[in-house]
Amino acid sequence: AHTLDVLRKEVARLRGEGPEARETIALVPTMGALHEGHLILVRRAREACDHVVASVFVNPTQFGANEDLDAYPRQLEEDAAMLKAEGCALLWAPDASVMYPEGFVTNVSVAQVSEGLCGAARPGHFDGVATVVCKLFNQVRPDMAFFGEKDFQQLAVIRAMARDLDLTHPAADRIIGVPTVREADGLAMSSRNRYLSDSDRRAAATLPRAMEEAVARIEDGQEAAPTLAALEDQLLGAGFESVDYAVLADAASLAPIASLSDRPARLLVAARIGSTRLIDNMAVG
Ligand code: PAJ
Repeated sequence: AHTLDVLRKEVARLRGEGPEARETIALVPTMGALHEGHLILVRRAREACDHVVASVFVNPTQFGANEDLDAYPRQLEEDAAMLKAEGCALLWAPDASVMYPEGFVTNVSVAQVSEGLCGAARPGHFDGVATVVCKLFNQVRPDMAFFGEKDFQQLAVIRAMARDLDLTHPAADRIIGVPTVREADGLAMSSRNRYLSDSDRRAAATLPRAMEEAVARIEDGQEAAPTLAALEDQLLGAGFESVDYAVLADAASLAPIASLSDRPARLLVAARIGSTRLIDNMAVG
């Protein structure tokens, strides 16, 4: 579907007409250039609901001025074929003019949880994400929605939005986080990995390896600060140009913490290699 009229007709058809025939619908929002990390979301969604709707929309409002909006990979036909093969019932692929018609003036902004980490490095990014995901939820009105833990802060922002705005399609507790899918060497799958040169691609595997070591040390009782400093050094030594952040945080609020407690914690890192920004995160404790 490319227009809202067609989308709504198709969703109504999937749901079945009449109150008795109500089938459940899962939404998997994406920006396309699909890989195994996206397809696992579709598989989880299929297991949970009668029908899966996937969206492919490269959302301009979540890209910063000097980010890769124009270069972002676009391959709608390939994506459509992959989604079909996974049993996805409907592909929602609107143009930017359908998503943001003339006169569009509204912004959904989630404070606090969106402010540190990637929010600090990418001003406005999570406003763009929250606004487009709110629109996708209202357009499709799914029972559940599936997101990757790969973008851990994004998942927290979307859950906070659904909770605060009393969304029911989907409700906050029907927003499902799916564990990160990795390449054989541990690197988290990402559409941006294809920008890496061969040597940078090899060096990039240091990121998950160094993070696993840091997780083990923190779980062993070592202090976070020196462990995170050593992690940064290890990345810079392996060929990363810079480390945006390497933070131990409360897994719910994403506020930085100095040491483990009885609450779930998360190690989150963003680092640049060959002008590509990679992010990853892992559970601690
Ligand atoms: P995109 O980067 O295309 O990712 C779409 C979904 O796939 C997100 O929920 C993301 O977390 C998940 N994903 C990506 N790589 C993954 C991996 N290796 N393992 C598991 N899940 C993975 O995230 C976006 O698009 C956009 O911000 C969007 C939510 C669509 C709003 O525009």
